[in-house]
Amino acid sequence: MLDQYSKILVTGGAGFIGCHLVSALLALEKNVVILDNLSTSLDGATPPGATLARADIRDPGQVADVVKGAELIFHTAANANGTLSVEDPRFDFETNARGTFNVLEAALATGTKRFVYVSSASVYGRPERFPMAEDHPLSLFMPYGASKLTGELYCRSFFASFGLSVVMGRPFPVYGPGENPKTSMVEVSRYLRWHLNQKPIQVVGDAGRKTRDFVHVSDLVQALLLLADKADAGEVFNIGSGEEISMRELTEVIGSVTGRTAVVDELSRVTEDTYRLVPDISKIKTLGYVPRMSIEEGTKQLAEELGENPELPSGTTIFKKGQQAEK
Ligand SMILES: NC(=O)c1ccc[n+]([C@@H]2O[C@H](COP(=O)([O-])OP(=O)(O)OC[C@H]3O[C@@H](n4cnc5c(N)ncnc54)[C@H](O)[C@@H]3O)[C@@H](O)[C@H]2O)c1
Repeated sequence: MLDQYSKILVTGGAGFIGCHLVSALLALEKNVVILDNLSTSLDGATPPGATLARADIRDPGQVADVVKGAELIFHTAANANGTLSVEDPRFDFETNARGTFNVLEAALATGTKRFVYVSSASVYGRPERFPMAEDHPLSLFMPYGASKLTGELYCRSFFASFGLSVVMGRPFPVYGPGENPKTSMVEVSRYLRWHLNQKPIQVVGDAGRKTRDFVHVSDLVQALLLLADKADAGEVFNIGSGEEISMRELTEVIGSVTGRTAVVDELSRVTEDTYRLVPDISKIKTLGYVPRMSIEEGTKQLAEELGENPELPSGTTIFKKGQQAEK
C-alpha cells in the first residue's frame, strides 16, 4: 500500500487522529514527517519513529520549509473545536481556512503527488435527509463548519486549476484513545469521563432524538489510507461507521460496558444539534472500506483505557455567543 510515496507528511500528526494515522504509516514502514505546533496535542504524543517538525500552518514560510519534498500529504492540522470557533472565529479561520491554503500552496510548489484533506461532517450543518450522501446540501451553522468547508473549496480549486491530486474525507464524530479532554467535544469520551468519575452524564439536547454515527479512530485511519491509495482525485467521501445511535442509547452502552447504570442529566433547553447526523457511507465502501469497530466494543476499550478517574472534559458546548450548554 502507498508504495509510490517515499516521503509522507502528516500535518497535525501529534494530535488525536494524526497520531493514530502516523502509527499506521510507520507500521507500513513509511518515512513520516509530522508538521505540528503541538498546541492541542497531548504531552509526548508523537509516535516514536516519525520526525517532528515544529511549525505553524498559519505561517506560509514555515509550511513551505517543512512541506518541501513531501510526496503524499495528509492534512489533519486544524482547530477541531466548534465551541472555540464561536468564541474566536478569527483564530478558527486563520488555522483552518488560511492554514489549509498555506499547506495546499506549498504542496503545489513542491510537486506533491497526493493530498488528503481531513474535512468534517460539520460542513453539512443541519441535515435534511437520512442518511446523508456527499451531495447533501451544506447548511452549516458554525464558523467551524465554514472554515472546514473553505478548506474543501480550496482543495477543489487546486485540483481544478492546477491539477493537484486532492481527495477529501468528511469524518463523522471520531472517538478512541488519545483524545485531549481539554479540547475534544465528541460525546463518547466526554460521557465516559463523567461516568467514570461517578458524575451524571450531561447530554446536550434531546437524548432520544439526537443521534450520531460515531466512527472509531482505527476505522477512520483505514479510510484515510484508502483515500490516499485508491480514490479519484477531486472526490469527497463521507467517513462513518454505518451505525446510528441516540445519545440515550449511548448512555445505556456506557452503563452496560462499565457495569453501572449511567445517571443522565438532559440539558434539553439547548437543542441546536438535536438532529440525526447519519452518513451514507456507500461511496467510501466502493474503495474497499469496511468499518470494523462496533460502538459497544469501541466504548468498552475506551473505558478500559481511561481507567477509574480520568481527567474530566473541560470544554463546554457553545453554538451561539453567550449560550453555554453544560454546567
Ligand atoms: N475528532 C473528531 O471527531 C473529528 C471529526 C471530523 C473531523 N475532524 C478533523 O480531524 C482533524 C484532526 O482532529 P483531531 O480530533 O485529531 O484534533 P486534535 O486537536 O487532537 O489534533 C489537531 C492537531 O493539529 C495541531 N495544530 C493545531 N493548530 C495548528 C497549527 N496552527 N499549526 C500546526 N499544527 C496545528 C495540534 O497541535 C494537534 O496536534 C481536524 O482537521 C478536524 O477538523 C475531527
